[in-house]
Amino acid sequence: MNAATAPSQTPGGIVIEEATSEDVAAIQRIYAHHVLHGVASFEEVAPDETEMDRRRREILGRGLPYLVAKRDGLVRGFAYAGPFRPRTAYRYTVEDSVYVAPEAVGQGFGRAALGGVIRRCTDLGMRQMVAVIGDSGNSASIRLHESLGFQRAALLRSVGFKLGRWVDSVIMQLSLGEANDTLPKR
Ligand SMILES: CC(C)(COP(=O)(O)OP(=O)(O)OC[C@H]1O[C@@H](n2cnc3c(N)ncnc32)[C@H](O)[C@@H]1OP(=O)(O)O)[C@@H](O)C(=O)NCCC(=O)NCCS
Repeated sequence: MNAATAPSQTPGGIVIEEATSEDVAAIQRIYAHHVLHGVASFEEVAPDETEMDRRRREILGRGLPYLVAKRDGLVRGFAYAGPFRPRTAYRYTVEDSVYVAPEAVGQGFGRAALGGVIRRCTDLGMRQMVAVIGDSGNSASIRLHESLGFQRAALLRSVGFKLGRWVDSVIMQLSLGEANDTLPKR
């Protein structure tokens, strides 16, 4: 483990560390709750542990961060960055995802996990981070992203239909590092 992937701890006792296969059961439970009961994710069928582990490995295999936020050894939330879109010219832009266990929201886990992902992506030389937030009424996610410096870039109205209603996507964006002030080295 190098310095970039070493665990860190907030003053509130939240530990942020790279997700391992041992964390997948908790990650799956958290994500399944939000898939089944909320509109933050546009998935409608909760992926099982095998699929969540495949996704985790794919992100880490690309060298991108997949982090868990723990307190007292328990996973309370997770966040990761994946490619924004697959075509190669998007390679300096990532899309973030962040989910916190329903019983642990509002205690700083989302901020700590997403903050860790932002730092890691900046260190990796990524230049832009995009959040695709469902729905316009998701004030927790919008506020979390605002408080970490994201700005609202667009509103896509009624692009989803879930839980019996139309759902918007709020697009937010954060410049990372030197952003578009310099050209990338590779
Ligand atoms: C969105 C989510 C990840 C936020 O994580 P969290 O741990 O609850 O948030 P934090 O405690 O770290 O708070 C971060 C900021 O959001 C604000 N916030 C948190 N919950 C809020 C709420 N319900 N309404 C308004 N603001 C809220 C906090 O006040 C804090 O703002 P501040 O930095 O100005 O004080 C979490 O609520 C969640 O998992 N929601 C459901 C899934 C989801 O929407 N994921 C995002 C997908 S894009």
